Amino acid sequence: MTLLRARAPGRVNLIGDHTDYAGGLALPIAIDLGTTITGTRTGDVLELHSQQFDTAMALPVPIDRSVARIEPPWSRYVAAVARELGCTTGFTGTITSTLPLGAGLSSSASLELACALAFGFEGSPLELAELGQRSEFAAVGVPCGLLDQLSCAFGRLGHALLIDFSTIAIEPVTLPDDLEILVIHSGVERTLAGSAYAERREDCERAASIIGPLAECEPGAIDQLTDPIVRRRARHVITECQRVRRAVAALRSGDLPEVGRQMIASHASLREDFEVSTPELDALVDHLTAIPGVHGARVTGAGFGGCVVAITRPGVIEDPAALTGRGWRVRASGPASVETVDD
Ligand code: GLA
Repeated sequence: MTLLRARAPGRVNLIGDHTDYAGGLALPIAIDLGTTITGTRTGDVLELHSQQFDTAMALPVPIDRSVARIEPPWSRYVAAVARELGCTTGFTGTITSTLPLGAGLSSSASLELACALAFGFEGSPLELAELGQRSEFAAVGVPCGLLDQLSCAFGRLGHALLIDFSTIAIEPVTLPDDLEILVIHSGVERTLAGSAYAERREDCERAASIIGPLAECEPGAIDQLTDPIVRRRARHVITECQRVRRAVAALRSGDLPEVGRQMIASHASLREDFEVSTPELDALVDHLTAIPGVHGARVTGAGFGGCVVAITRPGVIEDPAALTGRGWRVRASGPASVETVDD
């Protein structure tokens, strides 16, 4: 029997949050923290042990029922992928992960893509990402966009990815050598399965039904929105897309302080207009951006807790874990992949 190893990175979004489901822009990187699944395709049961949770799952395939209630909860993602793939062959193996969970670093997308490749997915990286997105919805009901799964499926060593969600065009942007990317946990765990993420998405859809696709609107268009909350949500999306454009131009011209300023403005918008920050995230961003050599920092991912991403001159913060107990220096890494390994 062939032993397989599937690996999928997590992602950190440098700028452009809550823009994906509105057809906007984002600039994520796939990171060198991720999920690894090792095992063999065999039998007619998915038998996987998660090292992170120290629990196991055993589920017969094919899976023809809803996966939203199966136990343990982490196995819902695995089962959802197997169901989407229509797996009729089982898998015996182990899941390990270096990603913190519920931290805004796409641990679930990473698990979904690693599972899909381990279970025999065949298709394009875009199809892989879309399968992951459908699995996420089936597993936990979160109406997420494609940011996380696209980042994991298209990651490129040494590059950020400029993603235009209106066309799913992905353009790699070279990261300069004198840039360090840090991810620091705020200490607040979050889950998106609650209603707040879906509510934000609905607010954006209401705005778009009145003023058209938000990513194409000028900031003045929000004057037509009478509901103050919907207006603020729309303003975030419209201005966030502008900030992504500015950050990419600055990155390309090597103006890292300007990239940092766009990140700081993005955080303010996510805090004030989109209301997805927390006092802990705000305090961390304030603390980091006061350190000389830190170009910028912002909440990354969905928010409501989780991590801050910061960009710095090399060596400015020696130990990113020292600040809150959990932090990482991350590098832009390659995409999800699967290989056969010798026993
Ligand atoms: C989560 C979702 C993504 C995206 C981000 C916010 O990570 O899964 O689709 O909406 O939040 O940018």
